Amino acid sequence: MKTIMPFLRCSALALTASIAVLSAPACSAANVKSFGKLPDGREAHLYTLQNASGFRADISDFGGIVVSLYVADKNGKLADVSLGFDNAADYLLKKAPYFGALIGRYGNRIAHGKFTLDGQTYSLPLNDKPGNIPCSLHGGDVGFDKVLWTAKPATIEGNPALVLTYVSKDGEMGYPGTLTVEVTYSVTPKNELRIDYKATTDKATPVNLTNHTYFNLKGEGNGSILDHVLMMKAAKTTPVNAGLIPTGEIVPVAGTPLDFTTPHAIGERINVPNEQLKFGGGYDHNWVLDNQSGKLELVATLHEPASGRFMEVFTTEPGLQFYCGNFLDGTLVGKSGKAYGHRSGLCLETQHYPDSPNQPSFPSTILRPGETLKSTTLYRFSAK
Ligand code: GLA
Repeated sequence: MKTIMPFLRCSALALTASIAVLSAPACSAANVKSFGKLPDGREAHLYTLQNASGFRADISDFGGIVVSLYVADKNGKLADVSLGFDNAADYLLKKAPYFGALIGRYGNRIAHGKFTLDGQTYSLPLNDKPGNIPCSLHGGDVGFDKVLWTAKPATIEGNPALVLTYVSKDGEMGYPGTLTVEVTYSVTPKNELRIDYKATTDKATPVNLTNHTYFNLKGEGNGSILDHVLMMKAAKTTPVNAGLIPTGEIVPVAGTPLDFTTPHAIGERINVPNEQLKFGGGYDHNWVLDNQSGKLELVATLHEPASGRFMEVFTTEPGLQFYCGNFLDGTLVGKSGKAYGHRSGLCLETQHYPDSPNQPSFPSTILRPGETLKSTTLYRFSAK
């Protein structure tokens, strides 16, 4: 990869972004590199956002993918804790299971790929079949993870940022309405990767945006995540059927292996006989967060005892899909040449609940003309 446009991340550039620049930034040299050509010949890019302590996110305009995330351990040693590839084309050619990507128009599953809105029924691509039951997953065949976004480096409150925009056409992947999406990634001095989502539409449509980074706090490719200790502030979950579609119930997790209201190693109870774990092949469920306020609050923590790396997840969303990499099987080899084995990465996807367009009792995911969807998720890293 060659550097094609080194530049300073200064106010002149920031002014071109559609966001407020509140103060003159402490400019640091930033860069954008080529991230290789897509199979159709278009060039993808890789942007680096870094703070003074070395915490760094490399993000592509292809799929809005968080390609790398460099986090210090308890001795200050940086490691890349995000699974991924070293060029954009591999994400398509190797059929990446959404490594690091922005997910939309609808993150998670829609039963039978169908929903009815304002009296009209819409059909979506059936691109997933857990338990042999077809559904639409993560926006269909070509979701927001597989498109080239328009990228603008910016500075927000002095922090390096990247503003990504994508206009999803009316009818794209079966969804109604032209949806204009803006996602802003920023890196803060507190070692946070912040993601601000915004969307507007010209026709009513379901929208559920998230990020699908696979974390391994030992460093990508360094084995299983079963020893990571997880806590989620979520006393309830939305149980699923064999097709990983919610039944519509909201049930307490107390007394089940899905109870992470106190910290537990992920592997501790993963083999306990339990119908939900059987359907998911492990953890692959939506937790109903205790925080239903729509305000940015701490909802989960993740600790890897050997390195000491610690991650806190904050979100305004009402749900959290915890997926522990059950479908990884060692066939995909990542950017540093290491195979990604079974459960070698885990996702904490902040979201609205799966299949909400077909579940009237779940919080609504319908965005209407004149409304602006706004959502924020923040991953904060430290070590202990
Ligand atoms: C989501 C789903 C999982 C799986 C992964 C991608 O997190 O919940 O079942 O499909 O995406 O492999």
